[in-house]
Amino acid sequence: MSLQIDSGVLVALYGPSGSGKSTLLRIAAGIESADGGAVLVDGVDVTALSSREASDYRMHVLGWVGQESDLIDGASAIDNAAFKLICAGRKVREARRAAASLLDAVGFSQRREQRAETLSMGERQRVMIARALSMGPRVVLADEPTGNLDSRRTHQVLELLRVTTRERGMATLLVTHDEHAMEYADKVYALQDGALREFATESRPRT
Ligand SMILES: Nc1ncnc2c1ncn2[C@@H]1O[C@H](COP(=O)(O)OP(=O)(O)OP(=O)(O)O)[C@@H](O)[C@H]1O
Ligand SMILES: [Mg+2]
Repeated sequence: MSLQIDSGVLVALYGPSGSGKSTLLRIAAGIESADGGAVLVDGVDVTALSSREASDYRMHVLGWVGQESDLIDGASAIDNAAFKLICAGRKVREARRAAASLLDAVGFSQRREQRAETLSMGERQRVMIARALSMGPRVVLADEPTGNLDSRRTHQVLELLRVTTRERGMATLLVTHDEHAMEYADKVYALQDGALREFATESRPRT
């Protein structure tokens, strides 16, 4: 399979459970290794990076929202959202301020001092989205980021991703089961039986 995502473009990917969507994203994130092929980001093959280089890539180039929560338990929502900024050396107060405005943007304005392990999955996902966008990523990989959100919050998150993708020229790949998500995407692909298929706009699946 082959997939190219230009900057400023949001691609939605769907496919049956077990078709390999998360695996594809983890390979593109340099989290999992592949037995073949290449993932080129600005001409650099992510699958060939050393583990140090892959960490740098995830820190500076990538915004990652995995299917499972990887927030730090014991740390607050806001500190989790500010985590990359703090690691990058920003002053803690500044990092928290930037994280707070990202949390606002994903509709998480209360319970920010609450510890990560006490948050609902929908709240965690929104903290992960804030953290993913915090460093101004060039590439965003998000695995069902709205899977636990109600329709109002889903709209808010998808609209944020759509607008940020365009304004900041990000390349965004969004795995979703939600047919509404496809309305926010510039392109829609299905992954099935090991093949990628692009949907033309007019033949996009609707309910
Ligand atoms: N660490 C692993 N070791 C072995 N097999 C795995 C591993 N992770 C995933 N798989 C298998 O690879 C296939 C693809 O899994 P993947 O999680 O990528 O699917 P998915 O499309 O994301 O599914 P879902 O929609 O349920 O999230 C599945 O058959 C799964 O059982
Ligand atoms: Mg998955």
